Amino acid sequence: VRVAVVFGGRSEEHAISCVSAGSVMAALDPARYEVVPVGITREGRWVLPDPGQQLAISDGVLPEVAGGTAVSLVGDPAARGLAVLEPGAAIGRALTEVDVVFPVLHGTFGEDGTVQGLLEMTGLPYVGSGVFASAASMDKEFTKKLLAAAGLPQGEHVVLRDEHGAVCADAAVLDDAARERLGLPVFVKPARAGSSIGITKVTDWAQFPAAVATAAAVDPKVIVEAAIPGREIECGVLAARGSGLPEASLPAEIRLRSGVDWYDFAAKYLDDAAEFDIPADLSPERIAAVQDAARRAYLALDCRGLARVDFFLGAGPDGADRLVINEVNTMPGFTPISMFARMWAATGVEFAELVDRLVTGALA
Ligand code: DAL
Ligand code: MG
Repeated sequence: VRVAVVFGGRSEEHAISCVSAGSVMAALDPARYEVVPVGITREGRWVLPDPGQQLAISDGVLPEVAGGTAVSLVGDPAARGLAVLEPGAAIGRALTEVDVVFPVLHGTFGEDGTVQGLLEMTGLPYVGSGVFASAASMDKEFTKKLLAAAGLPQGEHVVLRDEHGAVCADAAVLDDAARERLGLPVFVKPARAGSSIGITKVTDWAQFPAAVATAAAVDPKVIVEAAIPGREIECGVLAARGSGLPEASLPAEIRLRSGVDWYDFAAKYLDDAAEFDIPADLSPERIAAVQDAARRAYLALDCRGLARVDFFLGAGPDGADRLVINEVNTMPGFTPISMFARMWAATGVEFAELVDRLVTGALA
């Protein structure tokens, strides 16, 4: 089976995608899979990367798709193959053809339905969620709307919109009543991004305009979320396409080392600032509740194949435990520190089997 592993891309999470792809490619069993690495540069050029490209973070330097042979991907539904072509070449002169695509892309132009739309048009099978689920899960506002419609719990939040309801990245549109309701601190986030890029924790409203500008530099749609003090829990969801019924992994917990304020980009990937309990130390009832909510979130968003659902476990106003969904990632990180594969390993599905199930599920 020929698998095109697509990575990099025009996303703020370009480097993380490279790292994830390196892990995925290493886990695809060479006895079963022939891997065709396809990189997308930061500018959006598709390339067959030069051999030996660095796909790990080394000494704090982030990897990047740089050189390579320029290609374009052309669907040929008749041939049921994706042709990787030199630009301008006739389809008969494909450099290679592939059976399935694994878009290991995070963030915009990758995890948001855009690449999924391209792949739908080629008629080729691909790993992971389709156009709608990808787009809805990428957008924190619409994720919350769909989760709310399914009765799933979430935190207080406001999307910055003007008096007509149009997206408006101006700090002044958050009125006093909303500030009161959210309380401090708040997290100011680009609505459609990942890996904590563009997010600021605001502890004083004086910092708010700068935080809005930082988020708006990534996405004109800005969401302000109330902080939920408590524990940070994640859960993996996996489904074979045929049965469609999702399974949930054992949950895991992220614990920040002392002195680390919150789980930002550096804490995630650079600073070794977090410790992971895999599985999380939770009661059997709590584990079941997390798994049930993760499966329901996956179904509420029409996800396919895989997702990682992130939670906060905090205390509600009455002091009782309160489980809140933070977000859903349709292409979770596969970096060495990323939780998705490690939670499945703790649940009894090793990494090689996990990627095998994902690719096999896409082909089913
Ligand atoms: N967006 C990053 C890759 C994650 O969710 O793991
Ligand atoms: Mg995310």
